[in-house]
Amino acid sequence: MIIVQVSDLHVQPAGQRAYGIVDTNRYLQAAVQQINRLSPQPDLVVATGDLVDEGSVEEYEQLQALLAPLKAPLYLVMGNHDDRAAFRQVFPNLSYVPAEGFVQYVVEDWPLRLIVLDTLVEGEGYGNIDRDRLTWLRDRLAEAPDRPTVIFMHHPPFESGLYGMDRLRCRGDVALAQLIQQYPNVQRVACGHLHRSIQTLWAGTLCTVAPSTAHQVALKLAADAPPTMVMEPPGLHLHLWHEGTGLITHTAFIGDFDAYSYKTKEKVNLYESA
Ligand SMILES: [Fe+2]
Ligand SMILES: [Fe+2]
Repeated sequence: MIIVQVSDLHVQPAGQRAYGIVDTNRYLQAAVQQINRLSPQPDLVVATGDLVDEGSVEEYEQLQALLAPLKAPLYLVMGNHDDRAAFRQVFPNLSYVPAEGFVQYVVEDWPLRLIVLDTLVEGEGYGNIDRDRLTWLRDRLAEAPDRPTVIFMHHPPFESGLYGMDRLRCRGDVALAQLIQQYPNVQRVACGHLHRSIQTLWAGTLCTVAPSTAHQVALKLAADAPPTMVMEPPGLHLHLWHEGTGLITHTAFIGDFDAYSYKTKEKVNLYESA
């Protein structure tokens, strides 16, 4: 089973750039094209929040148009830049999205069970797993304690060392860790928000952060370093589930990079089968 995770798409109204600088829509178009060329195709794609930049209906309509060519089934997650009402207005028919309240859900159709959390606190940059959301997760985990499970959430619950971003991490992290620690079947907590590829052991499982499909956050670890965006290559995470081995996460960069045959030393098309 293959899951592609994209994150922090920050889609804009048509023709606009994030912060006046980053053409996030064009970057998402490139990500979709690259995912569609993967062979084998992923079983599903999860977009872990900051789907759009300001939470407007116009942006979600643009998101819908940009994601339409994607061949694999798609699951959407809320981030701090999202707006539940505008999201639901543009995507009213997603079978997995509850009609109201938090956009939290379970996907049961695959060897890996997926649990999606909603960490959004509207109007704030930080995230939260408050008592209601934690209770919901507790009930879902208790339903299938023996099934390998991946939890997707936008805000990472750990301190990354990116000082400026850590102020905006997920609150409620201590209780969340206490709960997840009780479930060794949780193979992964997969997040976004930090616009970098990051991994750490947390709550007895591996917690990973996927890079953005557009701009990244510069690797500046000084306590007084202001968050800085950097146009490092955009990327995605590919989670490969092998029964018996477990969950293997690859970081892939999005773009046209030169590729060469080891055999002939000639330039090859990456996406042509050998
Ligand atoms: Fe973001
Ligand atoms: Fe975010």
